This record gives sequence, structure tokens and C-alpha cells, in this order.
Amino acid sequence: MRLFVALELPDDLKGRLAALAGGMPGVRWVRPENYHLTLRFIGEVPGHTAEDLDLALANIRAKPFALTLSGLGIFEKAGRVQSLHVVAERSPGLQHLQAKIETALQRAGLPPERKRFAPHVTLARMDGAPMAKLVSFLQTHNLFRSEPVMVERFVLFSSRLGKEQAVYTPEVEYALAA
Ligand code: 2AM
Repeated sequence: MRLFVALELPDDLKGRLAALAGGMPGVRWVRPENYHLTLRFIGEVPGHTAEDLDLALANIRAKPFALTLSGLGIFEKAGRVQSLHVVAERSPGLQHLQAKIETALQRAGLPPERKRFAPHVTLARMDGAPMAKLVSFLQTHNLFRSEPVMVERFVLFSSRLGKEQAVYTPEVEYALAA
């Protein structure tokens, strides 16, 4: 199974993000139902490992917190823009949950994540973008800021890579409690 741990977003926030999307040809816009904030990418694991990871995640105790999305960003590789995203504001609640998940998954046997946590919601993927269009998109929308939304659970997703877009399935939900 190909797995990742993520936060779901409320439908009205997905709607606001969907309203940003478009107006840039040559990029693959993520379908609104696929918007999410990844806390930890796990990748391909055998079924018995998935069970261990689920147990580890189920033991996490963390409090609900407010999440705000603010501003846009891009990821580049070798000078080519790979994706466009909305940035999530860092907050103690978000950092705490992500750190707990990282520790729990390492204890359950996963190798440490080497990349620094950069919370974001991907809006579009591309392989090199038309620069002028991208710059104007970023300038137009850079002041985007969401209302804070309460995060009351996190989710273990499986991902199947489809022809057009990946299909994400929520496998297990874990509640946060005060
Ligand atoms: P992205 O949105 O920035 O591409 C499911 O693939 C989720 O896991 C995506 O949100 C993706 O982030 C994230 N992810 C992190 N590392 C990944 C990797 N090496 N391969 C695929 N997805 C990864």
C-alpha cells in the first residue's frame, strides 16, 4: 500500500482554494476533492507494516488546533517549477502534531523523514511552468488568506496513482482531543 498521513480540509475551504485555480494553461490542477495537507509521506509499505503504523498513529495524543492557510508558494527541482501550493501557517498545534506523528512512525520502524516539514496544500503540478503566467498568478493571489479552521482529526490515506490524478482513500481517522 502507498500511504501518507494528512489533514483533510473542510468543503468551504476547498471551495475557496478551487476558486483560485485556473487561468494557467499547461499545468495539472489538483481536483478540489483531492486537496489535503500532508503531515508525513510514508510511501509503499507491506500490509503488516501498515498495521503497525496504524497502531502507532492510534496511540498519539494531541489537542485540536486552528489551521490557517496564508500565501502561495512553489517547489522547484533543478530550476524547474514542479508544483504550486498554498502555504499553511506554522503554529504550535500543527508542529506538535507533526512531531508526534514523526516520532510514532519512527518508533514503528520507518526511517526518519529527511526533508524539513513545509506544510502546504498543493494546488497544481507541472513540469516547468510558463514563467510569466506563473509570476502573474502568484502576484494576483499572494494575499490569499483563509479563515482559521479547527483541526479535530488526522487521517491515514492510501493513494493509487491513476492515469490523470491519484485517487486518495481515507483508511483510518484519528481524533484529536483536548
Ligand atoms: P505534494 O502535494 O507536495 O506533492 C500524497 O502523494 C501526498 O504526499 C502529497 O501531498 C505529496 O506532497 C506528499 N509527498 C511527500 N513526499 C512525497 C513523495 N516522495 N512522493 C509522493 N508524494 C509525496
